[in-house]
Amino acid sequence: MNPLRSSQWFGKKGKDGFIYRAWMKNQGFPADEFEGKPVIGICNTWSELTPCNAHFRELAESVKRGVLQAGGFPLEFPVMSLGETLIKPTAMLYRNLVSMDVEESIRANPLDGVVLLCGCDKTTPALVMGACSVDLPTLVVSGGAMLTGKFQGRDIATSDVWRLTDGLRSNHVTQDEMNEAEAGMCRSRGHCAVMGTASSMACMVEALGLSLPENAAIPAADSRRKVLAQLSGRRIVEMVREDMRLSAILKRESFENAIRVNAAIGGSSNFVVHLLAIAGRVGVPLTIDDFDRFSEGVPLLANLQPSGKYFMEDLYYAGGLPAVMQELLPHLHGGALTVNGHSLSDNVARYRSLNTEVIAPLDQPVNPLSGIIVLRGNLCPDGAVVKPSAASPHLLQHSGKAVVFENIDDYKARIDDPLLEVDKDSVLVLKSVGPKGYPGMPEVGNMGLPKKLLEQGVTDMVRISDGRMSGTAFGTVVLHVSPESAVGGALALVQTGDVVALDIPARSLNLLVSDAELARRRAAWKPEPSGYPRGYVRMYLDNVEQAHTGADFGFLRGGSGSTVLKDSH
Ligand code: FES
Repeated sequence: MNPLRSSQWFGKKGKDGFIYRAWMKNQGFPADEFEGKPVIGICNTWSELTPCNAHFRELAESVKRGVLQAGGFPLEFPVMSLGETLIKPTAMLYRNLVSMDVEESIRANPLDGVVLLCGCDKTTPALVMGACSVDLPTLVVSGGAMLTGKFQGRDIATSDVWRLTDGLRSNHVTQDEMNEAEAGMCRSRGHCAVMGTASSMACMVEALGLSLPENAAIPAADSRRKVLAQLSGRRIVEMVREDMRLSAILKRESFENAIRVNAAIGGSSNFVVHLLAIAGRVGVPLTIDDFDRFSEGVPLLANLQPSGKYFMEDLYYAGGLPAVMQELLPHLHGGALTVNGHSLSDNVARYRSLNTEVIAPLDQPVNPLSGIIVLRGNLCPDGAVVKPSAASPHLLQHSGKAVVFENIDDYKARIDDPLLEVDKDSVLVLKSVGPKGYPGMPEVGNMGLPKKLLEQGVTDMVRISDGRMSGTAFGTVVLHVSPESAVGGALALVQTGDVVALDIPARSLNLLVSDAELARRRAAWKPEPSGYPRGYVRMYLDNVEQAHTGADFGFLRGGSGSTVLKDSH
């Protein structure tokens, strides 16, 4: 085994070693803890303000138990936590900030290996991005999804928030019913119980090979989640001894596996920006077109909301993600290495679908259409994404007149105006919700339909924006239009009444306006002043890249390794 990185702190003699150890001893650690044991950092996003991660102190205790059993020295440390439901203006604004917190916290401290405790949406990509830029042996433990919610004798979870809200607006649901649903939906610890972004991210890390098998789907409330955390604690100590770093796992083939798995599970469209950003940190070439290329031909196998019917709990009882990957194996790189030292195909060998209603066989999929389709055209020259499994079949090819909202406030002010000129064939266009425009690229792309159309029974319309949508949402929603309107992308030039032509099978999105007219509008276009003269948001605005490359900061691409360049002691 190579000398431990932590020995540069705890193995030192003289004044420096005295200082490094003496202060740590105030926590009651005996002297032999510092004598050559692998030091394992447990990077914790626990916070009572992040309800999806509020059980992580217990989870950390299980990881510690495993680390101790394997002869390691566990040290838990906090990083900024991102709770999707509470953080304003949007958690995505802070993903890159958390990644910086994680990167610097790992590098600056005497750690030999790291366990990342990830749960609510952005906490997974942020922690993985930061850890990638240091590249120590690293393993992910996800927090697990909530138990399925219960309401009036039926199952509910986050995707029902959209249905209930539309029902309330169209007077099909009462406020009393809303209150009842609110009490019954989040009835246990854990993150959203559908295949939203948090579950998509948990599946992403398992498909990438960064977690032990079954990590993605064990419910948060199931004792087997703690077992997995304890086993992960044992394994990370071995990984340090084997010097198995993130870069040994995160190869191009593991990214291709993750894209195909995301297609098979009907995973979140947010997966695109997060996987691109992670690839950028480890230097694996990955483009937005790869998401289309590698998900093409992969059908939807997991029948989970929002693309299907069931919930994360059902996925686990049907065999979990290993059973999905076993079914999907002909499309995967089975030889890809994973953190337990085994290949992906070895890991899934003993699994089978235990319920074909939930995990369908490859030759009888839930939907032959899945994955992420990347659109191009004069409205999105650098790309836009759409999730076909969440779209309505009758809108896959659609042309309609644009109803344009200049920003989210304009949308909120006018969407329910009875005088708004809009019908079921209109195309709703929302500007200024991209990475720089909002700023932070919020999840508002699945904008609610006009109240008067909801009352007529309309359930879906084509919606286009430079923002994102919640992984729990659904509809014919075109997202991540790039370049975004705030930097003068073609989206900025769309006017109400223009005809927009969407052809998802042909992968095109065009504004049917002449080049001469678009040039005239471009000449008259002026950017909005940002209104953020200082602080983190100023730094974000100056450095965030466009959605089609992952919306990371340009200066965070790549990594700086684990070496501390200057040592003041
Ligand atoms: Fe945390 Fe959905 S709000 S995962």
